[in-house]
Amino acid sequence: MNGGRQDAAAPAEGRLLETVRTVSSLRAQVRDWRSRGETVGLVPTMGALHDGHLALVQAAQARCDRVIATIFVNPAQFGPTEDFGAYPRTEAEDADKLRAHRTDLLFAPGVEEIYPGGFATAVHVAGVSEGLCGGHRPGHFDGVATVVSKLLLQALPDAAFFGEKDYQQLQVIKRVAADLDIPVEIVGVLTVREADGLALSSRNVYLDPAQRRIAPALYGELVALAAAIELGENATLAIGRARRRLVDAGFDRVEYVELRDPDSLAPVGDAGRPARLLAAAWLGRTRLIDNIAVGG
Ligand code: PAJ
Repeated sequence: MNGGRQDAAAPAEGRLLETVRTVSSLRAQVRDWRSRGETVGLVPTMGALHDGHLALVQAAQARCDRVIATIFVNPAQFGPTEDFGAYPRTEAEDADKLRAHRTDLLFAPGVEEIYPGGFATAVHVAGVSEGLCGGHRPGHFDGVATVVSKLLLQALPDAAFFGEKDYQQLQVIKRVAADLDIPVEIVGVLTVREADGLALSSRNVYLDPAQRRIAPALYGELVALAAAIELGENATLAIGRARRRLVDAGFDRVEYVELRDPDSLAPVGDAGRPARLLAAAWLGRTRLIDNIAVGG
């Protein structure tokens, strides 16, 4: 019994990737799957897809019968001087990648569908969204929390998948889902990296060749710093040294390097228990972020 699905035995390349742009057609599709008893996973993205995004699709496929990817470059999470206009928009190529990975549905709404005239609500998460990226990008996590709340409520998936690459974002989203009783499991997925350690990011395309050679030092310094802290070195001193080494490696500015509690993101003095190291640094006009586990 295949529940009447015509495509159950079709080869992957034979399947079409349906793209919907309205909440009502998204909901109609989800309703159809649910009526057959199928589970649904959601993978929210802003497009310009790379292997990090596709790892989220694979993680969703491992746990859910159906996988929806969303592409929406969310204006509400970009600051006035940030790269909303320049952000890479590559929907046709993205759809090809999603199709090759046997994604079941692409939801790619326009701005009017998400923020129609009169839209006046924002989701603000205290605590976990303060400091780190939240301290340097005012309003950013309100924009993220608002759009992710909407996407979760629009699709009502069983599980939604987010990368540890954006570690603070992952903790913010876990908080939102718990606090607003959104009935979804939030699943974190390990960071996918280039061979030299650089975390994959849609913004890596902004790096010129010289900057691209410097960029992996961010991960390299985090690895060295985690090892030093695990060996018992004073975290404040070790962080100061890592910051200097990043500048020596060619970073133009180090925004933060911090040791935090892995769940609450509260500052941690020394890692006598599992913690998270998080960093942000600038190469020219490109801001890179990364993070790794310490201890545990
Ligand atoms: P975007 O930057 O497109 O990322 C979409 C998802 O991919 C996020 O969960 C992010 O953490 C994950 N991701 C990015 N690079 C990754 C990597 N190298 N390894 C593993 N996962 C990676 O994050 C956003 O979009 C937006 O803020 C969004 C959540 C879609 C809300 O607008």
